[in-house]
Amino acid sequence: MTVTNLLTLVKTVLALPRKRVNGAVSLLTGWWLIRLLWRLRILVTATLVVLFAYSTLGWVGLVLLAVLPPVLSFAWRVLHPQSHTWFVNRLLARHRLRHTYGSRWDAVMVACNLHVPVPGGDHLTPTLRKVTLAPVGDVLHVRLLDGQAPADFARQADELAHAFGVPEVRVTSAGPGRVELVLVLLDVLAEPVILTDVPPVTDLRRVRFAIGEDGLWRTRNYANIAAEVGGGVPGSGKTAGETSLACGLIQNPAVQYVVADGKGGEDWSWIAPRAAAYCAEDEDLEAVLRVVEQVHGLMRHRLKTQKATRGEANFWNLPLDPNHPAVFLVVDEVQTFTDTKGMDNDTKQLAYQITARLSVLVKKGRSAGIITRLLTQKPTADALPTAIRDNASVRTAWRVMSKDAAEAILGPVVREAEVSPVDIPEAMRGVAVVATDAGRLERVRFPFVDEHTAETIATRTADLRRELTAFGASALDDQGANDDGTASESEGEAAGVRA
Ligand SMILES: Nc1ncnc2c1ncn2[C@@H]1O[C@H](COP(=O)(O)OP(=O)(O)OP(=O)(O)O)[C@@H](O)[C@H]1O
Ligand SMILES: [Mg+2]
Repeated sequence: MTVTNLLTLVKTVLALPRKRVNGAVSLLTGWWLIRLLWRLRILVTATLVVLFAYSTLGWVGLVLLAVLPPVLSFAWRVLHPQSHTWFVNRLLARHRLRHTYGSRWDAVMVACNLHVPVPGGDHLTPTLRKVTLAPVGDVLHVRLLDGQAPADFARQADELAHAFGVPEVRVTSAGPGRVELVLVLLDVLAEPVILTDVPPVTDLRRVRFAIGEDGLWRTRNYANIAAEVGGGVPGSGKTAGETSLACGLIQNPAVQYVVADGKGGEDWSWIAPRAAAYCAEDEDLEAVLRVVEQVHGLMRHRLKTQKATRGEANFWNLPLDPNHPAVFLVVDEVQTFTDTKGMDNDTKQLAYQITARLSVLVKKGRSAGIITRLLTQKPTADALPTAIRDNASVRTAWRVMSKDAAEAILGPVVREAEVSPVDIPEAMRGVAVVATDAGRLERVRFPFVDEHTAETIATRTADLRRELTAFGASALDDQGANDDGTASESEGEAAGVRA
């Protein structure tokens, strides 16, 4: 603006009628005052409330003001703890965003070399958008600067931990241009999570199975899943993990369980009252074959008839119905039935048949609502044929001793991953590495349900048990029938088979 223009503006303003000038000045002052009050809104509101209480009720008003909020908060917490915790956490998170982290954010970013200098000696820092509270510690939600990537933060994780004064900072990508920093105060995976009861699973698309490093439950979607493979050294927590999952699932009337325990012990005996079929045979492979055949028969029956009788070829497009239950087939220590080393010829033939049936179940079971779950101490190709393993879309690796074993369960992704089941300490039984929905590997802890609790749940829900024959499978006795059809009930009993 030139000097002449400026003079013209001053003259115009001076020439304006006095009333208009006063009006404009009042408006500006009013606007400024509103902004000031807005800035100090908490102080202003608190002062007004105190003045109002004092002017209406005198000293009693002030006493009420001091006593009522804590009493109301306490009552709220008793009546509805969830909403109370949510509200308090929100207040805390906002406070920490502004005062704990916000006030130091720029300095920490510069100290950890996560800023970007701009010409003129100034710099830009990533934006701290939000703070949330997780059981494991505070989570800082950060918007990255152009050109930054989550890996830049991951590289500086140690520096960030020192700067924020916490033992560990975990960095996770939260979408394009965003990163989450978990300031870990507590290693939630270090301590067992012991459940004295397990809530029923009502939705098979959101089944809680373990707790993640952020202290939050992880869920799995079992719809459209054909198979799951889990491996780990003896005592790493495979059976216990599977048990805690089963305890929730068996409470759903639209779920039936079939268990073949290759250990031949009592690990799964708790489920007998609720299992559609239970077989704890480790030597009589005929008995095991009969159980697997029965599930296989049900699968074939469903695949052939489902469209005509229920209107859909895919089980998971239909509502879950106790008359058409999802069937979970658990084969623990599957290598007992699949690893033919040291078997005589007849047993080998049976093992081949079991492996073939399992292989078909893993490939085709999905649209028949049959989920095959295989657990093994030995996740190598001779124990778990690749034809089976490669079709299992869900994989869990408890502690293993070698990278090869880790890769055998989780696939090649484990080679580049930051977490590995080889690093799980022996004492951390029940901790495993699983793939997230996004395909990233993470460590989780399975909850622990002792077998007496599991037995109580199975007995409580025993009336939900149905024979698979009720849904179209042939009877167990028919499965292993000799050519002359002589397989008898007593043979089934002797084989430790219950259906
Ligand atoms: N999630 C867990 N939390 C706490 N302790 C656990 C957990 N899982 C397992 N354990 C402990 O480890 C022991 C062995 O677990 P489990 O029987 O599940 O091992 P496994 O991997 O099935 O072993 P094996 O291959 O010999 O059958 C359990 O008896 C229990 O004491
Ligand atoms: Mg076991």
